[in-house]
Amino acid sequence: MLAGIPIHTAMKLTIDQDKCIHCHLCEKACFLTRFCGFDSLEGAAEQYCIGCGHCVAVCPRQAITHSGVKSTEPIGPVPGEAEVLNLLMKTRSVRHFKPDPVSRETWNVLRRAAEYSQSGLNAQSIRLTAVEDPDTLSGIRKALLRMYDKLERLAAFPVTRLAARLSLSPQDYHAVISETATQPLRRQAAERGEDPVLYGAPALLLLTGPASQTAREDATVLSQNIMLALTALGLGSCYMGGLVLGCRVFKYKPLLRALDLPKGHAVHQALVLGTPTVQLKRMPERKRRKIRFR
Ligand SMILES: Cc1cc2nc3c(=O)[nH]c(=O)nc-3n(C[C@H](O)[C@H](O)[C@H](O)COP(=O)(O)O)c2cc1C
Ligand code: SF4
Ligand code: SF4
Repeated sequence: MLAGIPIHTAMKLTIDQDKCIHCHLCEKACFLTRFCGFDSLEGAAEQYCIGCGHCVAVCPRQAITHSGVKSTEPIGPVPGEAEVLNLLMKTRSVRHFKPDPVSRETWNVLRRAAEYSQSGLNAQSIRLTAVEDPDTLSGIRKALLRMYDKLERLAAFPVTRLAARLSLSPQDYHAVISETATQPLRRQAAERGEDPVLYGAPALLLLTGPASQTAREDATVLSQNIMLALTALGLGSCYMGGLVLGCRVFKYKPLLRALDLPKGHAVHQALVLGTPTVQLKRMPERKRRKIRFR
């Protein structure tokens, strides 16, 4: 337990004293030393370790054996500042996709991008579900459109609108009302045979996990890893905020049924992804941010 929070099952860490050169790098890399203060990494690990593996990864002599960290892999050179900023500029929301399916190689890279993501207390609890089956995507699309129709009707009546205002947080209420405002346009687009909700993407990625605030944050962090990896692969994606909102706030049963989430899981993030039909060559202007130094 750490500050009353149950973390991981007890971990066993041993240091091979024949190999150890007492450089203390493992202690400097470990988050526990920041607030616990301990003499022995081995003792602290048994009680508080979150299994991040930094101690194993940093040891120059491979002297540490850790029950929760079976292996490490080498990290190659990282891109320079200009390449990183280009990647970030290029990672924009995509709303028009080619029908090309997402290859298994791409899914494999995305899986790794997810595995390298950070998570609160290293919980690593977010699961990935890739929806590619056209019939399943069609079912989700229809459920979303019906959900927006229903929300639009609820928003149109003063009594139900007031009930929503009273029962939802101001942010959720605002988000729900904003989503309903564009529903007439969505409906018309759907009638023309277009896909105004999943944007004709060949795949939908659901990030699910326990229904906790931390898991929600973990999923958001993880989804950004996925988006950046997609950009690096020449692909693109778009957040499905309406879908997540519909599940979390509205708990719309037909949508939840169509999504068929893992048992006990909530959907914390969802992305449509695929090959963009257009490529942005320039970055639109953004609000200038000032860093407040104190
Ligand atoms: C949503 C979120 C919240 C986090 N909060 C903290 C925090 O309050 N303090 C901290 O030391 N690390 C925090 N972390 C970092 C995690 O502990 C870290 O990602 C995890 O231990 C795995 O380590 P690594 O990603 O650096 O390998 C947080 C990570 C995430 C994604
Ligand atoms: S795995 Fe992480 S938390 Fe556990 S002992 Fe090593 S560095 Fe510390
Ligand atoms: S990093 Fe490795 S060699 Fe250095 S003190 Fe820790 S166990 Fe010993």
